[in-house]
Amino acid sequence: MYRVGIITASDKGSRGEREDLSARVIREEVAKIGGEVLEYAIVPDEEEQIKNKLIEFTDNKGLDLILTTGGTGFSLRDVTPEATLAVIDRLAPGIPELMRAESFKITPRAVLSRAAAGIRKQTLIINLPGSPKAVRENLGWILPALPHGLDILKGTASECGSGS
Ligand code: MTE
Repeated sequence: MYRVGIITASDKGSRGEREDLSARVIREEVAKIGGEVLEYAIVPDEEEQIKNKLIEFTDNKGLDLILTTGGTGFSLRDVTPEATLAVIDRLAPGIPELMRAESFKITPRAVLSRAAAGIRKQTLIINLPGSPKAVRENLGWILPALPHGLDILKGTASECGSGS
């Protein structure tokens, strides 16, 4: 079982003006790798608020994985990658590299995603786009690789040699 947190960055969502369908998709998708969502927050597109939630979920809740959704585009209000980069200790660039490469096959606009991923202590943090469709697509590509990475991070796996 992996302990998962979701942080939705959305001005409209945080005001209750939009249903958070992307978080629902995340719950469904992570269940496929044995992920259970234990923490959830919806915050406006404010760097300080996103940073504070990321720190709370890593340092106080000890989650294995935090998935953010929204705030990765070019709008001036999109600051989720900046909040993420401010709190991580180490980058995990392969994850957004895969997401952009695969997404580009669906839409050229994928290059507009500024999503980041990295590790704070023993928690992996991954930025996903905002739309439910994009969330499902991106998780479909990265989820197969995550259990091994999360096990290494937790110290319950040490070998990378099996290739699976
Ligand atoms: N990735 C996939 N797989 N499918 C999509 O529809 N939309 C793109 C991109 N990545 C998209 C995608 C678009 S249009 C944008 S602007 C960026 O994600 C950032 O989205 P966000 O601002 O909602 O986070």
